[in-house]
Amino acid sequence: MKYASQARSWTESAYADASTYLAHRADLVVTLGRQLVPGDEVLDLACGDGGLGEVFVARGFRYRGVDSTPEMVEAARQRLGERASVELGDLNDYVPPAPVAVTTVFRALYYTRDRRAFFEHVAAFTEKKLVFDLNPRQYRLEDVLADLRRAGFGQIVLRPFFMPQTIALPRPAAAIARKLERSGPLARLALRYRFTYLVAASPALETPTQ
Ligand SMILES: C[S@@+](CC[C@H](N)C(=O)[O-])C[C@H]1O[C@@H](n2cnc3c(N)ncnc32)[C@H](O)[C@@H]1O
Repeated sequence: MKYASQARSWTESAYADASTYLAHRADLVVTLGRQLVPGDEVLDLACGDGGLGEVFVARGFRYRGVDSTPEMVEAARQRLGERASVELGDLNDYVPPAPVAVTTVFRALYYTRDRRAFFEHVAAFTEKKLVFDLNPRQYRLEDVLADLRRAGFGQIVLRPFFMPQTIALPRPAAAIARKLERSGPLARLALRYRFTYLVAASPALETPTQ
């Protein structure tokens, strides 16, 4: 299996500066779109070895990781111990025991069998938002947004994510990268060639009928 042999050191090998990268990812999961608060439950589908979970439990969130590779699940359990729950499961079918505040899917959208059906599936148990990364050179943004809306995610916020995965930036450069994420046209230009969006999609708020 593709990921089995990488499970032991996934986070440390896949990210040049894992703590900066994952802290920034977690910041955006919390703040982009509908705000999360400590105590909220994060369901991380395709969680890998639970590197992101480490950040969330340290910040007082409840964390539930799910991955289909047994070696990743084992590595995540070793990393997180009693502080979180990690299960073997397929992101296409997994249903948590109770609704969660946020569902996240990072670097794994391509494992959905049917993207629209997946969004509908997640919408049934996600209270505040679904957050995932999206490569606009791989997927047509408009198609993904349309699938989200059809699944009932009426409030969608996008943010360019410019923290490089395989290069560790010195602190000042990392601060500039975070600033550039909010630079509008410049950011959109960069996304034509590199980097991804973070997408936060929340259920449409019901308007009271008079
Ligand atoms: C590129 S890694 C990303 C891991 C982690 N989310 C991250 O951002 O570092 C992809 C992960 O998806 C998992 N995976 C692949 N297909 C899956 C599926 N159908 N359901 C759940 N997890 C899956 C793999 O085992 C692997 O851990």
